[in-house]
Formats: sequence, C-alpha cells, structure tokens
Amino acid sequence: MPEQRPDKRLVADSFSRAAATYDQAAALQRAVGSNLLARLPAEFAPTELVDLGCGTGYFSRALQARYGQQVIGLDLAEGMLRHARQTSPLISGWVAADAEALPLRANSQDLIFSSLALQWCPDLARVLHEAYRVLRPGGCLAFNTLLEGSLHELRTAWRAVDDFVHVNRFMPAEELHSILATGEFGDWRCEVEEHQLYYQRLGELTQELKALGAHNVNPGRPGGLTGRARLRRLTDAYEPFRTDQGLPASWQVAQILMFKPA
Ligand SMILES: C[S@@+](CC[C@H](N)C(=O)[O-])C[C@H]1O[C@@H](n2cnc3c(N)ncnc32)[C@H](O)[C@@H]1O
Repeated sequence: MPEQRPDKRLVADSFSRAAATYDQAAALQRAVGSNLLARLPAEFAPTELVDLGCGTGYFSRALQARYGQQVIGLDLAEGMLRHARQTSPLISGWVAADAEALPLRANSQDLIFSSLALQWCPDLARVLHEAYRVLRPGGCLAFNTLLEGSLHELRTAWRAVDDFVHVNRFMPAEELHSILATGEFGDWRCEVEEHQLYYQRLGELTQELKALGAHNVNPGRPGGLTGRARLRRLTDAYEPFRTDQGLPASWQVAQILMFKPA
C-alpha cells in the first residue's frame, strides 16, 4: 500500500532536523547494523562500496575501517549528510540522493550496505532493481528493514486513544519475501531478529523516536500537538504491557543478503 507511506520530503526534513541528536539515541540502530555487517561473508572483499541511507555516517566509517576502501555515503537528508561530512573528514563521497533512483553507474559497485533506511522507501522493489543495476556481477546488497510487529505496543496503545495514524506501517514478512523472490537477485537469504527495548516511562520512548528523526510523517497523522488528556490516555493504554524490566518496545528486524550472479 504505497499510498500509506510517508512523503519523502517530510522524511528528509525530519531526519535532517534529527542529525545532531541521532547518534545518542541510536543504540538499537548500532546493534542491528553491526549484526548486518557481521553477516557479510569473511572472504568478501569489495573495493567500491556504498552506504545507502547512511545517516550520520556511523556505518560508512565502519565499512571504510573494515575494508580499507573509500565509501560513498548516500542519503536523502541533507542535514544528515552535513553532519556526516563534519564528523567523518576521511570520507569524501557524501551524496544526496534517493535510494529509489541511484545516481550511480550500472555495474560500478561491489557492496551496497543499508541499515534501517529502506523501510522509509515507498517502493522497495524499485530500490532492489536499482541496487541490482548498480552492482557488479558477484556484488552484494546487504540491508535490513523493519517488519510488521515493530512498535506494536505503541500502535495498540494509540488505538485506544483515537483513529489517527501514529506509527509507521511496517511490511509483513510475507510481503517482504514476495518482493525479494520476484526481483532479479536469484541468490538471497533473509533472517529475522527480534529486539525489545525497555523504558521506565513512555516519554523516554517517544523522546527517543523524536531524537532519531523517526517522526510520524504518515498520511492520516493528527494535526497539532498531543493534548495532556490524550497523552494520559496513551500512557494508561501502554501500561498493561509493563514487565519487570519496564515498558517494552518491540522491533522485528529482517536482515537480508542478496548477491548478483557472478
Ligand atoms: C534510521 S536512519 C539510519 C541511518 C544509518 N544507516 C544508521 O544505521 O545509523 C535512516 C536514514 O535513511 C535515510 N533515508 C530515508 N529514506 C531514504 C531514501 N529514499 N533514500 C536515501 N536515504 C533515505 C534517512 O534520511 C535517514 O538518514
């Protein structure tokens, strides 16, 4: 249902505004990106690399350190790229572009790495098609994305308050598998990781999402600020999920490796 996906300009603005706060809030993002990096075959030795949806450039630096090669960091959000440029003087290739229309030559890259960016793209099949075009034979697209079930507690709690869209739509696993299976990549594997983070107060979770730039920019979102009474109802509706560790926030992360035939 691409029409339910957020507007890309709003996505870019939201992440640009979050560039200065993103890194302190990105513990889960670090963990799942590192898990993706660890899945790359030990013998794989790419020389031309792209970090797609690079954000502040954490994994662009990690890729450069691991492979000792120049990396292109590509992102939709100019603010993220400005931040990345300042904090990563050793990397020169920061490019503002959309994952659905890569400004890169066909057969020019060995590795396209993308951590927690592609769930923001309305048309994943198109991203895969672009990645396939840009990869050299034998090249790898390594990406992770969020699946249905992520933030289900927050979605359920909001449903007790109103009918607006408050939480992004995440793809069901079956829909992802069907997109992976129908694309040009013949050789791919997908594994799902479940993560739970815990908070003492709901405000800690909502503040963290804001600091990450993961704002509600969906069509059907409510206008204006959330009033006190509605926040109270939201907090009350979240409370039944509380465990000994605190209020949980669940994340379902699909980790995917795809290879272009050599
Ligand atoms: C959650 S951040 C992840 C950043 C980084 N990969 C990390 O793991 O720290 C998502 C990033 O994807 C970028 N993004 C969203 N939609 C995009 C698109 N269509 N093309 C390129 N980048 C996009 C956002 O601007 C944001 O910087």
